Amino acid sequence: MKFFVDTADVDAIRELHELGMVDGVTTNPSLIMKSGRDIKEVTAEICAMVPGPVSAETVALDAEGMIAEGRELAKIADNITIKVPLTWAGLQACKVLTGEGRMVNVTLCFSANQALLAAKAGATFISPFVGRLDDLNIDGMDLIAEIRQIYDNYDFSTEILTASIRSANHMKEAALIGADVATAPPNVIKAMANHVLTDKGLDAFMADWAKTGQSIV
Ligand code: G3P
Repeated sequence: MKFFVDTADVDAIRELHELGMVDGVTTNPSLIMKSGRDIKEVTAEICAMVPGPVSAETVALDAEGMIAEGRELAKIADNITIKVPLTWAGLQACKVLTGEGRMVNVTLCFSANQALLAAKAGATFISPFVGRLDDLNIDGMDLIAEIRQIYDNYDFSTEILTASIRSANHMKEAALIGADVATAPPNVIKAMANHVLTDKGLDAFMADWAKTGQSIV
């Protein structure tokens, strides 16, 4: 499973990138707002650091506007993925932009039928939001499993990009289902390294080591 980082925080991306943990980056208008940076400037900086797909989201609500914004965002770098919402206009924009050979990430997906439409419109990535479904007491991972089955039934090449990930457990579940990509905030990716038995075991090793009076270097 590919790891994308869901942030526009350049320093946080760099830290994970240096460890080889970043296959791509996703941003959205809320993350750009949070960064306090200019969208083109910060996106260019991210694209220069990360060779994989970097999603930058359009904000127009009509297809024509999304297409114009998508073309403008695509000028930033070759690895830009244009993010459009899963509305009828977004599907129209997806069809046109992928027809021009651009990568498109269709976002704000909350149903298998929406994902089926995105695949038919030629989406490069579909972004189902698991955390926001969980917030409504609907198991977001059931949606990932449904989309996986539908895409496999018909050999759609659209990649399932599990989004709105809130926990390390979401990462594991997405990987078990066979999502192509998971995009997560940096703290969630780092939390995957945590285990209480690792901490406990390390404490015991350190206590015993201190008793030996030895040093390695
Ligand atoms: O990738 C979409 C993601 O940013 C949404 O996450 O936590 O705001 O639902 P969240």
